[in-house]
This record gives sequence, structure tokens and C-alpha cells, in this order.
Amino acid sequence: MSHTIQLEGHGIAFSCEPAKSVLDGALAAGYEIPYSCRSGICGSCRGRVVSGAVQGGLGGGLTAEEEKSGHVLLCQAHPCSDVSVEVREVRKIDRSAIKTVKAKVYRMTRVAPDVTILQLRFPAGTRVKFKAGQYLSVKLEDGSFRHYSMANPPHQNDSVELHIRHVPGGSFSQKMEQGLAVGDPLEVSIPYGDFFLREGDQDNKPTVLLASGTGFAPIKSIIEDAIKAKRERSMVLYWGARRPQDLYKMDLARKWESQLPWFRFVPVLSDSQPSDNWAGRTGYVHQAVMTDIPSLGSYEVYACGAPAMINAARHDFVHSGGLNPNAFYCDAFVSTTTSASETIQVQIKAA
Ligand code: FES
Repeated sequence: MSHTIQLEGHGIAFSCEPAKSVLDGALAAGYEIPYSCRSGICGSCRGRVVSGAVQGGLGGGLTAEEEKSGHVLLCQAHPCSDVSVEVREVRKIDRSAIKTVKAKVYRMTRVAPDVTILQLRFPAGTRVKFKAGQYLSVKLEDGSFRHYSMANPPHQNDSVELHIRHVPGGSFSQKMEQGLAVGDPLEVSIPYGDFFLREGDQDNKPTVLLASGTGFAPIKSIIEDAIKAKRERSMVLYWGARRPQDLYKMDLARKWESQLPWFRFVPVLSDSQPSDNWAGRTGYVHQAVMTDIPSLGSYEVYACGAPAMINAARHDFVHSGGLNPNAFYCDAFVSTTTSASETIQVQIKAA
């Protein structure tokens, strides 16, 4: 039997079967609540249960205080009765805004030992709309989908730039290694996701951009969009990786820093070797933020990359740094197993 889910203060209600999570129920009804990993890790989808009962939804992505105050992870919580829940944001999904396009491979550039930048061109005259930070879905021959963030800014709307990390045994990685060539077609659907800069009355909030590995891709789009829009909002990018060669666009980030008075760049390595001659910051990238900005109360944070980094950052920023939990936006890359022998690094989203 379905239950009715009310989103407090938004005048929105939808039905949801107990077999579905509240998040899946919302998405099926055409409403998007902030979410990212759909695995109970990132904390994006948390909401506070005001009345009614849910099963599940506690754990990793929540702080102890949030659990005490009735918060649950809506990607993991299933309704046991009619439920009223408070969410930080909700928007109606505009399915007509999502375009499916036959793109063509335009360029492939290996920029790090395990990263390729893939540029796709749309057919002549085709333009797509997206927000800086959003992602697209690539359809593979077996009918499965892979999701990658656009690294180019939205005004470059006749093509997309994707930063692909090679994962041993991954379908798309294998396709790139073995068969993908310039001129090949790829079907993509675009855009998806709620990882984009919040503007409006919070326009001037200083912003921490936090990336690990290819989590740099949507952050690059956000920064290049800010440059184009002459936004001048104070931003500091902390980009973490294991070795210097993994920071595959370090020169670009350094160029931004030298040219933009509102932008700073802090590269952080977690596994530098003596042969790297690295004189910069070391350790976990989110801890570098904590060291430099112990009080995050006035900030917004946009984090993209490995779930462990995102989980640790959210926990420490909120707990120790005084960050408003509603000012933490993230896009978590989650590994999923598509067969017993194959694990692929993708961004899991509703498509
Ligand atoms: S914890 Fe639910 S979307 Fe990440």
C-alpha cells in the first residue's frame, strides 16, 4: 500500500510505496530533492521527519546531532506510514529540458596516467542548455549508462568536455582504450543534477571549491562560468590528488590564480614521493581547508570527488568548522558493480 509523503512548507505531496525510498518516490513523482550518491554516503539527501515513520535512512551521511533531531537520508529511508518531511530544497523536474543528442568524438587527450579528456561535438546547429556543475549521461552499446560532469562552461554549448578516469575493467574505460576513435558517435542525454553554484541573496558568500581527482571537472565549469559572467565571488579551490601528475590541469588553475583577484588555488597531495620534489601542501585535501579556514560559518562549500573525501569533509566542516549543513553541496563519485567482475567509477544519478 502506498503512503503519502508531504514536503513541509512546499505544498507538495506524492505517493510512495514502502519498497521505494522517499527520494525515489519524489523523483518518480517529478520532484528533485538534493541528492548525489544514492548510497547513504554523502548526506546530500537528508531531510527531517516531522511526522510519520520511516524505515532505514540512518548512518554514514548524517552527524549524531542530525540523527538526534530526526534527520534521515531520504535515499535510504522507506515510508512505513504517511510521512511529513522537511527538505532543504525541492524543484520540479523539467523532463522536457533534457535533450538526447547524437554527439561525435572530436578529440581525446590523455592528460594523466589514468585520465583522458574526451571532447564531444554536437551535430551542426545543435545547442544544449546546462548549468555549470551539471552532468550528462552517455548510453553504451549494452544499454547501460555512464554519467560524467561537463568540464566546459555552459556558454560553450555546441560541444562538451568530459574528464574520464580510467578504471581497470570499466566498460567505458575499456571502450576508450580499445575502440573509441575520433568521429565515433555517442548518444548523450543532457543535463542532469543539482550540483551548481547557488546564487541570489547569497551571491557574495565566500566559497570553498573542493575536488579530488576528476572531481575537478564540474569545478572547472563553475570557475569558467564565473569568469565569463564576471561574477567576482570570492572562491578558493582545494584540489587533492595522490601525485603531482594527477593534478592534470594544475597550470590552468595556477593561471586563474595569477589573473583573478577573487580566486585562490591550493593543490594538496596525499602521496607525494621524494622524486616529485613537491614543496606544496600534503595530507588530506579537506584537512588543508580546516587548517586554513578553521571557521567556515560564513562559507558555502561545493565538493566533488570520492565519497570518502566528501563524507569526511562534510562531517568535519559541520562539526568542527561550524559550516551550515545546508551550505554544503556535493557530487560524489560512487563505485558500482555492474557484474561480478566489473567495478566502474561513475557518478550515480537518476537518469
Ligand atoms: S546519502 Fe543520499 S544521496 Fe548521498
